[in-house]
Amino acid sequence: MNCLAPSILSADFSRLGEDLSLAERNGITMLHIDVMDGMFVPSISLGFPVIESIRKKINMVFDVHLMIKEPERYVERFAESGADMITVHAEACLHLHRTIGQIRQLGVKCGVALNPATPLSVLDYVLEDVDMVLLMTVNPGFGGQSFIPAMYEKIKTLRKQITEKGLNTDIEVDGGIKASNAERALRAGANVLVAGSAVFEGDIEKNIKEFQRVL
Ligand code: DX5
Ligand code: ZN
Repeated sequence: MNCLAPSILSADFSRLGEDLSLAERNGITMLHIDVMDGMFVPSISLGFPVIESIRKKINMVFDVHLMIKEPERYVERFAESGADMITVHAEACLHLHRTIGQIRQLGVKCGVALNPATPLSVLDYVLEDVDMVLLMTVNPGFGGQSFIPAMYEKIKTLRKQITEKGLNTDIEVDGGIKASNAERALRAGANVLVAGSAVFEGDIEKNIKEFQRVL
């Protein structure tokens, strides 16, 4: 099923609870939470206290995108904080297969993220073990960047591989997604759209409705 997962990176943190409740009332069922460590990516974003606070108020599926080095050190702690799905970067894991196993053992869903320049072949021996592949459509680290057009082909190729293997793995696209290019990303084979600035900048309700028209 297609869905929109707003990324809280672009939210106004002084009114996070209210804005997320508003999104929830407007039919949003998944929330994308970007965690950055200042090492894997240049920026630092948020961590456990924020996730634990919003967990008390918000029922959406918490899709936690870890842009951190050696995420195996922290996956258990993120599951305890309220993550329903934990996505790690293939580039950030010393032993990707082991980390995926660790996440699955915690009883949460598991995703693997790939930077734009990372080939799909890193998934060759783990695709069957993950619920979702997150294809970065910008270089990770910041909200508000432009979608990299070469990623349409990558989405298409991955969807083809998933179908050929008889799987129904979700493909999440993250970075530069707007209501205007969402349709093309969906057509290429993505089914989970992350959008930060396109949801939280301006009128949140109106922005969500624009996306819902193309979902
Ligand atoms: C970037 C993050 C994204 C970011 C997307 O590193 O992973 O989730 O919030 O922001 P927009 O939608 O503004 O490109
Ligand atoms: Zn993200």
